[in-house]
Amino acid sequence: MITHNNGLFALQGDGFTCLLQVNRWKLLEQLYFGPTVDLSDWGAFACNPGIGWGSSVLLETGNNASCPDAMPLAWSGSGRGDYRESPLEIGVSTDLRYESYEILEKPRNMVCGLPCASGQGEQLRITMSQKGLKLHLYFGIFGGAMTRRTVLENTGDSTVAIHKCMSFLMDLPGELQMTTFDGGWIAEMRKHTAPISEYRMVNESTTGASSNRHNPGFMLSETDATEDSGWVYGFNLIYSGNHYAAAQRSLQGFTRVMQGISPDNFCWNLEAGEKFETPEAVMTVSNRGFGGMSAIMHKFVLEHIIPAYWQYRERPILYNDWEGCMFDFNQRKLQSLAKQAKDLGCELFVLDDGWFGARDDDTAGLGDYHVNKKKLPQGIKGLSERINHMGMEFGLWFEPEAVNPDSDLYRAHPDWALTDAFSPITGRNELLLDLTKPEVRDYIVDSITNILDNANISYVKWDMNRHSVALGAKAHRYILGLYEVLGRIFGPRPRILLETCSSGGNRFDLGMLCYGPQIWCSDNTDPICRLEIQNNLSYLYPQSTFGAHVSAAPHAQTLRTTPLTTRGNVSFFGCLGYELDLDRLLPVEQKEIKEQIALYKKYRTVFQFGTFSRLKNGWQVQKGKTAIAGIFRKRMPAAPGYEQLRLKNLKSDKHYRFRNRAQELRIGQFGGLVKHVLPVNLNPNGAILRTADRHMTMHDGVQELTASGAALMNGVTLLPLFRGTGYHEHQRTLLDFGSEVYIAEEVSNDKS
Ligand code: DGJ
Repeated sequence: MITHNNGLFALQGDGFTCLLQVNRWKLLEQLYFGPTVDLSDWGAFACNPGIGWGSSVLLETGNNASCPDAMPLAWSGSGRGDYRESPLEIGVSTDLRYESYEILEKPRNMVCGLPCASGQGEQLRITMSQKGLKLHLYFGIFGGAMTRRTVLENTGDSTVAIHKCMSFLMDLPGELQMTTFDGGWIAEMRKHTAPISEYRMVNESTTGASSNRHNPGFMLSETDATEDSGWVYGFNLIYSGNHYAAAQRSLQGFTRVMQGISPDNFCWNLEAGEKFETPEAVMTVSNRGFGGMSAIMHKFVLEHIIPAYWQYRERPILYNDWEGCMFDFNQRKLQSLAKQAKDLGCELFVLDDGWFGARDDDTAGLGDYHVNKKKLPQGIKGLSERINHMGMEFGLWFEPEAVNPDSDLYRAHPDWALTDAFSPITGRNELLLDLTKPEVRDYIVDSITNILDNANISYVKWDMNRHSVALGAKAHRYILGLYEVLGRIFGPRPRILLETCSSGGNRFDLGMLCYGPQIWCSDNTDPICRLEIQNNLSYLYPQSTFGAHVSAAPHAQTLRTTPLTTRGNVSFFGCLGYELDLDRLLPVEQKEIKEQIALYKKYRTVFQFGTFSRLKNGWQVQKGKTAIAGIFRKRMPAAPGYEQLRLKNLKSDKHYRFRNRAQELRIGQFGGLVKHVLPVNLNPNGAILRTADRHMTMHDGVQELTASGAALMNGVTLLPLFRGTGYHEHQRTLLDFGSEVYIAEEVSNDKS
């Protein structure tokens, strides 16, 4: 609900209140953004900067209260008394003052082609102005989240050069810390937290994409906030290009926070009569810690970002041929893989890179979307029909934004490549296509839709593997071009499941999620690395937004060998897929994968759309009467103590059947120690043990009990871990990188 009373605006969403006030100098003050408060209490948040501020600049001579530098604001100008960071730079001072407001019943779509939050919601538009310029600040309510964006309108008669225009600005009180998610290829989403100080903390991308270096999502939190307590704010930007966020503490103790398009090299000429729209930013707040904030953000993404057709729609379990085959495949190999994938329980077969043009490695053919008939004599149509005939859906990889210089497309249209004033430099042997050109956008739309409409393709992986050379306004226009292309291809084909990708998670953002409901979050599928990547994504993105695949061990990126059970257990907490050469699977591995897939299918809606919680030793998803927890171990200590599992979100007074998924142990992992387990003394390197290891397994401990939700939330004592005293079935034999999955299901006999 949005209300206005005598210069005081109140936005009340599910669980939050935002209070704004137009002060007597017509500046917009940010009185409060936090958990719900009663509007009658607004006076408690008003700050009265009535004391003198020494050498500060005053808007009203002699009136110490008129110092903008000391006010908590929701927008500011530059060069006119507020010398903190400005959200707007147009090369001269700006002094925007409140002019009017309007409460809009329904959110309006953006006019410039940027994606934005969808669905029901209310919006407040506050207009500020100065001579020749109007600034419209939009505040939206979407359930528990608030959105903000800015529209700058040139009402004068000369061009305005915009160097910086943020989507929002907010001054917040209190001691806060900032958490960002940084990294690079195969090292996405590393979490860094530091107290906000008097120097400026910046989270920015300048690669042309939202980037794996610095995800646009970030958090501010009280320094003593925990997973379950304390105030935590989550912020994100619905945008896939260069972004910027800054937080800095003022002398008066306010943290100024802002987010928008990166001003790095940015310059947009706003002609007389024109408007410039910023991407929409989203913000959430909770006093129930990081977990509380994540729950609100997840709901926002699921209900207002994901394309309507895919909201809460179960995702198929896919097999992708990339890590198993790379560029080396033919139709026979693919059909054999598809048959095996089907037997294991997969539902969708995805053909990745290498199917078109002269693309036998990554140096050639990108851009030439005609099928390689040597590899696929029956074309995509023939292959897809065969896969469909096996009872599986078919999906295909594209990298439409890029071109290899060694391609027919580049030879025909070298001017279509995005270049700068220097000789071209490639990234992964690629140049980007200039999506600011209409003829390039038409080529991409025509070549992709031609393939999509001539075969039964129900899934597309949309890849992009290099950084841009476009700077400033051109980089922004590139992203607008990309959104146009995605809208033209997938708008009329809403049932195609679009998974976007950029060398893994190089463009994991809310902008891309508006077109495709899931993103390939990393080329690093080592489960131990994934624990960090998926865990840190979960702060701001729900688990159904990322693909999580089981791949081979030793792992291609880390050389680490991990149990297949752990690779499965980690991938359960995302959209499960398999990406390894199925011809190389041992019988025991085939059995394990079948069991993994059967379990995931049974609880798919809980895994994909359940409420996600980060536990002390793992993760939990909970939906309806079921909660499933995964606990993960990196290193097995000697003489481990008893371990507890504390579940969350159960009903205290209901009873639950609690058990772990029965897991198998590979005989081979015991090596020479197998003599302690089996009645025979086998050579650890001999043929008998190797054969036994391929076909037989030993059972790990299974724990089963019924208890109240209250008891399970207080902590179940788990079976003892292996502690050098031999194997038996009533202990857990986890080893290094071991893991387990526990399931709690409500049963009808409650306490009453
Ligand atoms: C990079 C992606 O992240 C991989 O999953 C794969 O699709 C390759 N590109 C194909 O070239």
